[in-house]
Amino acid sequence: MTIVNGYAQQNIIVTTKNTALTFTVDADKSLIASYLGKKLENENEYPIIPNLDKYKPGSDDLFNKHEAYVASGSLNLLEPALSVTHANGNKSTVLTFSSVKQDKLDNNRTLTTIALEDGQYKFKVVLKYLSYFNEDVIEQWTEYVHQQKKAVTLNKYASANITIPGNAFFLKNHYSAGLREMRSEEQQLLHGIKTIDSKLGTRANLLNSSSFMLSVNQPATEDKGEVIAGSLAWSGNFRLDFENFDEYYLRITAGINNFSSNYTLKPGETFTTPSFIYTYSSNGKGQASRNLQNWARHYKLANGRGERSTLLNNWETTYFDFDEDKLKELTMDTKKLGVDVFLLDDGWFGNKYPRNGSTSGLGDWDYNKKKLKNGISSIGQEATKNGVKFGIWIEPEMVNPKSELYENHPDWIIRQPGRKEYYMRNQLVLDLTNPKVQDFIFQIIENIYKQVPDLAFIKWDCNSLIYNAHSTTLKNQDHFYIEYVRGLNNILKKVKAKHPNTPMMLCAGGGSRVDYNALESFTEFWPSDNTNPFDRIFIQWEYSYYFPAIAMDNHVTDMGKQSLKFKTDVAMMGKLGYDIRVKEMDAAELKFTQNAIKQYDSFKNIIWHGQQYRLQDPYHHKIASIAYVNPNQEEAIVFNYYMATTSATNVNLPIRLKGLSSHKKYRIEEINLYPGAKSPISSDQIYSGNFLMEVGFNPEVSAKRSSVVLRIKQI
Ligand code: DGJ
Repeated sequence: MTIVNGYAQQNIIVTTKNTALTFTVDADKSLIASYLGKKLENENEYPIIPNLDKYKPGSDDLFNKHEAYVASGSLNLLEPALSVTHANGNKSTVLTFSSVKQDKLDNNRTLTTIALEDGQYKFKVVLKYLSYFNEDVIEQWTEYVHQQKKAVTLNKYASANITIPGNAFFLKNHYSAGLREMRSEEQQLLHGIKTIDSKLGTRANLLNSSSFMLSVNQPATEDKGEVIAGSLAWSGNFRLDFENFDEYYLRITAGINNFSSNYTLKPGETFTTPSFIYTYSSNGKGQASRNLQNWARHYKLANGRGERSTLLNNWETTYFDFDEDKLKELTMDTKKLGVDVFLLDDGWFGNKYPRNGSTSGLGDWDYNKKKLKNGISSIGQEATKNGVKFGIWIEPEMVNPKSELYENHPDWIIRQPGRKEYYMRNQLVLDLTNPKVQDFIFQIIENIYKQVPDLAFIKWDCNSLIYNAHSTTLKNQDHFYIEYVRGLNNILKKVKAKHPNTPMMLCAGGGSRVDYNALESFTEFWPSDNTNPFDRIFIQWEYSYYFPAIAMDNHVTDMGKQSLKFKTDVAMMGKLGYDIRVKEMDAAELKFTQNAIKQYDSFKNIIWHGQQYRLQDPYHHKIASIAYVNPNQEEAIVFNYYMATTSATNVNLPIRLKGLSSHKKYRIEEINLYPGAKSPISSDQIYSGNFLMEVGFNPEVSAKRSSVVLRIKQI
């Protein structure tokens, strides 16, 4: 309690290393969001902030309290976070502060729990703020419970509200399509509401990403400006509302999309929203990204602090056309290249309706007896014999109409009774709201393990979104979209509990499902089926705003006309993999690749666990440049790519490095050279970190040296 202007004020302060999020309780007991920004030097000054807000009730203007969590039906007439139809049909909710508690979970994490209630309706809202001190990240979610005589309906139930003051607001959001993931646009948010959402069900990010950056006052650059980076941890329909109001305020409302999803909540039952994860940076987008990346590696991503396996995948080299002999050869090629895992992709199953193309077999998970006479177990054994590991592709949420599963379990399929079926990639989605379907999917994985006990990798694909959303068994169809994600989560949790050490790749026909709910179970994701390295620089660049490199699977493939070196360098900025015909490589290509994998092994920890600095963007520069610096600033790997599409001169300015230590001395060496190539860069010169960060270094990238990788090492 503080006394400000003679009034006893309850203040709640959530802090991280550099950020503060504060609340006050006003005279009506409303919980007011008073501040989100840079931590103040003097904690005693936070209580002054709410009194700078001069809006008063009773004037001719809209009286708009800046409540921390906005409910609808009474005072608030803007976009709400919460809309409830109470048991008696009343649609108003007024939340007042009831209690606060702060629990220090460990040296880094504090959980702030703020309970609000609507006394008239015995409806309780619990706001949870889990703050991560070192990462400057806040994970926020909300719980509801009530004691009314009958069920209430939740009409809108967002995870979080954030109200920010400012002169102008700029939203960087991402729009996608298959092969064109994570294109980015940045726009000033003028008055009204901008909504970014998904109603697609499964491939929720096919059109829009549920991650964004919001700059305050002016568009933040990499290193300057105030920015909030946010990401909703939900693998289904989501909704992000940005409402610009009262000239100087923006309110973000982030949560599950309430589209077609009025949720019935029984008395005593608790509804928990997914987490909205956000970070505030006063040093631009680069810092905001590093905060999220550090947080993800430490707290969310499956095995975020661990290792990853490099691999050879057969998808782009064989598609559906393979047999046992071909696969056995591929396990040998895996060894020859020097990667860890051979990953068998689509096409290994289905007998009555063999999976020889995308039109049949999906759902019938017995290995195809014609293609694989001795089953997948023999491919697993062959891999072991050749000193590599074996991984497998599945797409367990889906079914082709041409399959035994479709014939035998029509009730397990999502579709509308009496209506035409619509397909995406010739398939329908299974009804994961049904526990029997959840068991079926879990058993698919168990059966694979029975055949291949040392299965070392799973690629989990998901190629269709949900048309005709309807479950034959779910009592309340309004719960469909939510129960689907819960069903998916049940399966993923069971799989993780049973096989905690198996790395899993999250794939949805490319990157249509990338979020921090799924990434709790998946060690990595497939950003796009577009592996053209030129396009890929942009795709990886944009994902890196929210997700760490260790989570990004990048493969060297035939796609794109760039050199093998260019392709390899691009794929190294994440988890390196291959989808190439090893047999068709000439001696120099093979030698280069084998060496590249060895080189990668020597610095992959810096890419996976270091700090990422986007030095020069590929949109406005002839050279794109990205650096990864190890935690104690002793070593950095810098990737530089020639991006010019018109003939450009070779004159380029030095590129300023970031993240090094000013006082340390470094030597620079060009690595990953193609056999026979000579580098113009001498590693004799010694530079101070200060010099490299203030003046920079010219990697001498040109049309002829289109990709240059530098290793910077402290001497
Ligand atoms: C879509 C994925 O994105 C590809 O990598 C591949 O696994 C195919 N599905 C297989 O059908």
